[in-house]
Amino acid sequence: MTAGPLDGRTVGSSILPTSAYTDQAVFDTEIREIFESQWVWAGYEHWVAEPGMSRPITVAGRPLLLTRDETGTVRVFHNICRHRGILLSEEPSTRARLRCPYHNWTFELDGALCGTPYWNREKASSPDDGTREQLGLLPVHHTVWAGMVFVHLGSPSGTAEELLAPLRERWEGIDLTRLHLAEERRYEISANWKLVAENFLDFYHLPMVHPQVGSAAAALDVDDLTLTDQIIGGCYPRGANGKATGKAAKTAVPLPLLGDVPEKLRDRQDIFCVFPNALLFLEADWLQVIGLEHAGPGRTVEHMAIFVDEAAAAAEYAEARASLSKVLYEVNDQDVPILERLQRGKTSPAADRNHLVPHWDQITARFQNLVAKALT
Ligand code: FES
Ligand SMILES: [Fe+2]
Repeated sequence: MTAGPLDGRTVGSSILPTSAYTDQAVFDTEIREIFESQWVWAGYEHWVAEPGMSRPITVAGRPLLLTRDETGTVRVFHNICRHRGILLSEEPSTRARLRCPYHNWTFELDGALCGTPYWNREKASSPDDGTREQLGLLPVHHTVWAGMVFVHLGSPSGTAEELLAPLRERWEGIDLTRLHLAEERRYEISANWKLVAENFLDFYHLPMVHPQVGSAAAALDVDDLTLTDQIIGGCYPRGANGKATGKAAKTAVPLPLLGDVPEKLRDRQDIFCVFPNALLFLEADWLQVIGLEHAGPGRTVEHMAIFVDEAAAAAEYAEARASLSKVLYEVNDQDVPILERLQRGKTSPAADRNHLVPHWDQITARFQNLVAKALT
C-alpha cells in the first residue's frame, strides 16, 4: 500500500467541493468537458450479439444507436433521423432496416439511407445517389475491446487503442477475446457517478462493508496503481487466495481460466477505473465490468456485466457461474445504500470539511484530480 503526501499535497481535504456532487451546473460542465470530450464507456458488445441487431444507448445525455450490421461489424451512430431529426429508434431491435416513424425513411444498420417514400411526391421515388450518400446516419467514433464499446463524441486527439494500451499490456496472456457473458444486471443508484467510481477504488471500506470478502489484514495487501493518468486503481498481488475466505468462497468448482494465463497472473486481482466511467475487476478466470451511465447530479445507472471464459459457458459450470455472480452481486448490493448515504451527506456544506487519509485515499485523490483538471 502506497502512503505519503496525498497525490502531491500534504493536506487531506477533499479535492472536489461538495457542490461537485450535487449541482446541475457542475453536471452540465462535466457533460461538456468530460463525457463529450473524452473516450467513455458506452455499452457492451453483447447488446448487439448478432448481425441485424440494434439498441439505443445514451452517452452524456445524447441518444446514440449501437448496431451490428449484416457483415458483423459493430457500429455506433447518432440515433437521429436525417430528415427532421426525430429520435430514430426507441427499443432494441432485430430488424435489418430501421424505419423512421415520422415519414418512413429507412436506414440499414451500416447507416446507409435506403427507403425514402414519396421523395418527389411519387411513390417509389428517391434522391440522387450523391444526396442519398450524404444522408446516412451520422457515425460516432468508437472502439470495441474486452466486450465493451467506448465512444468519443468529439474529435479525439488520440485513439481508444492508445488509451487502453497499458491495460492490454498489463493483461497480456489473458485472452479477452474468449469472454462469455455469465450474467448482467442494471442498478439505478441515487448517487453521483463520481461517488460510484470513488467507492469502487476505495479499498479501505472492504473489510467493514463487505466482511465476507476478507479481513482488514487482507485489505492491507492491496497496492495502489496508476497505469496512466486515466487508468487508476489497485491490485491484490496474491488475489483472493491472499484474503481470508479464499477463492473457494466464490466458486466451489474452479472456472476455466481466460486462455493460457501465465503463472504470474493466476492469483492476481486487478481493480481499475478507466476514467471516467468504466470500472473493471479482473481475475484470471473472470472479468467484472461496471459501466456508468451519467444520468443526473444525483442519479447514476450502473450496467454490471460478469464475463467468464467461453469454455465456462458449458452446463457443468452453471453452478460456478451462478455462485460467482451471487458473490459479486452481494458486494454491489452492500455498496448501494452506502453510495446513497454518501450522496445524502454531500447535501451538507459540512461535508466540505472531510478528510482524505494519505494511507488509503491516494487513488480517490487522483480520481478527484482528474475531474478537477477536466473542469478547470
Ligand atoms: S423525420 Fe424521419 S423520415 Fe421524416
Ligand atoms: Fe464496496
